[in-house]
Amino acid sequence: MSRSAHPAGPRHADVLTEGHYSAPAADLNVLDEKVWSRTVTRDADGALTVGGIAVARLAEEFGTPAYFLDESDFRARCRAWSEAFGPDADVFYAGKAFLSRAVVRWLKEEGLNLDVCSGGELTTALDAGMPAERIAFHGNNKTVAEIERAVEAGIGRIVLDSFQEIVRVAHIAQRHGVRQRVQIRVTVGVEAHTHEFIATAHEDQKFGIALADGQAAEAVRRALSLDGLDLIGVHSHIGSQIFDMAGFEVSARRVVQLLAEIRDEHGVELPEIDLGGGLGIAYTSEDDPREPHEIAKALSDIVTRECEAAKLRTPRISVEPGRAIVGPTAFTLYEVGTIKPLEGLRTYVSVDGGMSDNIRTALYDAEYSVALVSRTSDAEPMLVRVVGKHCESGDIVVKDAFLPADLAPGDLIAVPATGAYCRSMASNYNHALRPPVVAVRDGEARVIVRRETEEDLLRLDVG
Ligand code: LLP
Repeated sequence: MSRSAHPAGPRHADVLTEGHYSAPAADLNVLDEKVWSRTVTRDADGALTVGGIAVARLAEEFGTPAYFLDESDFRARCRAWSEAFGPDADVFYAGKAFLSRAVVRWLKEEGLNLDVCSGGELTTALDAGMPAERIAFHGNNKTVAEIERAVEAGIGRIVLDSFQEIVRVAHIAQRHGVRQRVQIRVTVGVEAHTHEFIATAHEDQKFGIALADGQAAEAVRRALSLDGLDLIGVHSHIGSQIFDMAGFEVSARRVVQLLAEIRDEHGVELPEIDLGGGLGIAYTSEDDPREPHEIAKALSDIVTRECEAAKLRTPRISVEPGRAIVGPTAFTLYEVGTIKPLEGLRTYVSVDGGMSDNIRTALYDAEYSVALVSRTSDAEPMLVRVVGKHCESGDIVVKDAFLPADLAPGDLIAVPATGAYCRSMASNYNHALRPPVVAVRDGEARVIVRRETEEDLLRLDVG
């Protein structure tokens, strides 16, 4: 479709004078490697390929919308994290970002541990053969049944989140005749610079036990007094999609201070601290994430320094990256449907998915990038909003982006960095069928989570 047949909203010069948007990339055909998974490239025909397979073939075989996950990139990121932290630390992948049995097997093979936060995630982990001792169990309201299951399985650690849970886990462990390894999750009072809904260390929220008013110290007192519990350390998670290391440093310092207070009061040096996950990734060219080795160095330096000052043995550190491992490894492939230019505003490009496969834009005002991937184009950039097919005007996938002005129905576009919190937060809104996750590696593609079908919908609806 030519630009004149399909007027393309404001030109980028108008947009720049408005000052709301970044300029379009000089060449929209160039894929910014910061936001795409490692094996993504364009082939000689200009089509995007991942793991050596062109998107047109993937779309034909697996349909759209679909998530394509670059398995070798996932594995490389696992290795980068565990090498960065070394043998004296533990990396727990946060399964909430995206979990499937294939992912569990990759984690196991790459030597990572796993953090789960529900009975469903625990079942997936155990079913796929993750050794129970390599699993940590989180959550502010674990049910008695979930705790029973975790204790029975011999789970590595339960992260205690409230005074009631301290007692609950102790009783269940005692009933099973075991001493359950536990950590206490504390809220360190850091304001993480991220969206309110994904910040978790300020005091006015539902997670953890506050350090500030002595609550955490009291929780430690109680945990140490109960026979069913083996208190191995303290846990802090300050939030998610964070770039600034300052918050982690404050958190690490306060957690070490608590260890020193525990040593002074009880004569016990707890052997571990967990500093949670939350490291940011690049969703657009403007994001500059830290590399795992920089993060590992910053965290271990601060912990070592603080421990020396407090004359404590340096505890074993663990971290729980979810997004930073899986986020960059997948993109969502969509087929372009309706294109609606709104004169003087922008062009609405509708795709065959939407808020049911990516709720993050609507929920957190998240920013994403998008590219035309079934071909290249020399047409001018046009300002677009990529929207879904749901009955809601907030159904936006990419709020502001540039695509070539000759974009046409049937083109394939892809949104990178959708590996984390997209499939795992997908819904059936409007009875949408949740898309498959297809793992691609070395020229082979295989479904690891299949597409939902209308039969699946009807099976749950028992009439
Ligand atoms: N550890 C704990 C205790 C957590 O609560 C979380 C995330 C993580 C680790 C992993 O954080 P990550 O490294 O993935 O940032 N749905 C939101 C994110 C919620 C994160 C919840 N907890 C989003 O889409 O941005």
